[in-house]
Amino acid sequence: MSELHELLCRNFSWADKIKSRSPDFFKNLSERHRPKYLWIGCSDSRTAPDRLLDLPSEQIFVHRNIANMVHSDDASCMSVIQYAVDQLKVDHIVVCGHSHCGGVRAVLEEQTSGPIDQWLKPLSVLKTSIAGKLKQASLNERSVTLAELNVVKQVTNVCKSATVQTAWEMGEKLSVHGWIFDVSTGILKDLLGDITSARSAAAVKEQYF
Ligand code: CO
Repeated sequence: MSELHELLCRNFSWADKIKSRSPDFFKNLSERHRPKYLWIGCSDSRTAPDRLLDLPSEQIFVHRNIANMVHSDDASCMSVIQYAVDQLKVDHIVVCGHSHCGGVRAVLEEQTSGPIDQWLKPLSVLKTSIAGKLKQASLNERSVTLAELNVVKQVTNVCKSATVQTAWEMGEKLSVHGWIFDVSTGILKDLLGDITSARSAAAVKEQYF
C-alpha cells in the first residue's frame, strides 16, 4: 500500500464530513470561483494564507514561491496577476513576507546555489543596498529587516506590472498591500497601508528606493 494512503483516507473523510453537513457544498464550489484576494507569499509551509487569515481557501487566489518574489520576467507570476485581476476581478493583491524565511536567511548567509541563487539574485542586490543598516544587527533582526524591505520591493514590482497599471488606468477598484507575518507570534503586520493608484505606488517607491 502506498505510503500516502493515509492522505487519501484523510481526503475522503474530509469530503464526507463536509457533505454530511452541507450536501451541495462541492456542487456550489464547482460552479463559482470568485476569490476577493490574490495572495503572493512564500512557499514556506508555515505561512499558508487560508490558515493565517482563518478564511476558507476558496476566497484566496494564491501564488507562492521562495521568498515571495515578483519578477517581471516570471511568466508564472505575471499570469497569476493577469488572471486574478482581469478574469477573477480580485479587489486586493497582498504580497506577504515572513520572519524566519529560509530564502532571506540563505541570502544573508550567502549560502545560495543553483536555481535558488538565480531566483534570489534581486534579494542579494537588495541586501547589498542596505549593507550599512544590516551590519550591527543579529541574524534574526537582519532577516526581518531584509524580509520587510523585500516585501516593499515586490509590492512595487506588482504595481508596475502591465496588468495592474492598466486596471488603474481603467479606473478599476484594485488595491495592493505589503504585509509581513511573524512566525513566532502568528501575527500579520501591514507595512504600507492601501496602495490604490499609480500615484500612491510611485510615492512608496520614492520613499523606499
Ligand atoms: Co520564506
